[in-house]
Amino acid sequence: MTVRLDQGLLAELERMTPRQRAEHEAEVAQAVATHRDMKVQVGETLLELRDLSVRFGGLVALDSVSFSIQRGEILGLIGPNGAGKTTCFNAMTGVYRPSSGGVILEGEPLGKAKKHHITRRGIARTFQNIRLFGEMTALENVVVGTDARHRTGVTGALLRLPRHDREERTAVDRGMALLEFVGIADRAADKAKNLPYGSQRRLEIARALATEPKLLCLDEPAAGFNANEKAELMGLIRRIRDDGYTVLLIEHDMRLVMGVTDRIVVLEFGKKIAEGAPSEIRENPAVIAAYLGVPDDEPA
Ligand SMILES: Nc1ncnc2c1ncn2[C@@H]1O[C@H](COP(=O)(O)OP(=O)(O)O)[C@@H](O)[C@H]1O
Ligand SMILES: [Mg+2]
Repeated sequence: MTVRLDQGLLAELERMTPRQRAEHEAEVAQAVATHRDMKVQVGETLLELRDLSVRFGGLVALDSVSFSIQRGEILGLIGPNGAGKTTCFNAMTGVYRPSSGGVILEGEPLGKAKKHHITRRGIARTFQNIRLFGEMTALENVVVGTDARHRTGVTGALLRLPRHDREERTAVDRGMALLEFVGIADRAADKAKNLPYGSQRRLEIARALATEPKLLCLDEPAAGFNANEKAELMGLIRRIRDDGYTVLLIEHDMRLVMGVTDRIVVLEFGKKIAEGAPSEIRENPAVIAAYLGVPDDEPA
């Protein structure tokens, strides 16, 4: 596949006067917001897990877990290693079929919907272990995400067939806008595999946002970050929420999750053991017990 995207955009950005740059940034903010339903009712239920169970042979990875996610919130999903957090994401995104129970998005069960269908219905995710197209540029990785929303095939869009011109233009503009939003626009033309680790994590988030999700699921996005990087990332997650997205955040670091989430659900051995505001979770004896014996510096 020949991949050719507009590298001129970067040069254009560099030539801009501060004023042009400010105007451009306003347009970027606009572009990031386009296509999204801005009339969302904050507080209504967006997604519901109903008695969700996932078994692997004899192992019960999720045991009748129920909780819901409200529009406009950052919900934290926490719990010790092996608690079932990633399995939750996998069941919500069509990677695994629930053994029983189910997932309901905007009142409609996901049922047996395939992965790409679930993406179209509005659930996007990042992975605990980064999955990017290493040989593609940062911008191309995001454009591929944008493409999940459009009918034009990715090949058609990238080869600039005339009837795809407009769609490609929109995808590239939006891709650049998203790279700016996550703070890595200066690396747009670099191959994903050559980006520093932290930028790769940000790129994954930009790519997920490119699918215009109703729900953005982040699986340990701060894994491997130092304290400063974690603080910056939490700032980004807050901006994403303030922009009108709903976020489900898996994080192992309790302190981190306390500072950014509106509500928290705690899993242990596949079961939900607590749910509530960060201040309640912090003092919940079952949660404290679940986290006892987990050293502070244990990464996952
Ligand atoms: N594909 C799989 N096959 C078998 N067991 C799995 C699979 N995926 C996860 N598990 C098991 O399910 C449990 C929950 O795993 P996971 O959801 O990854 O936990 P967490 O993300 O909370 O650390 C663990 O015991 C894990 O070993
Ligand atoms: Mg996990």
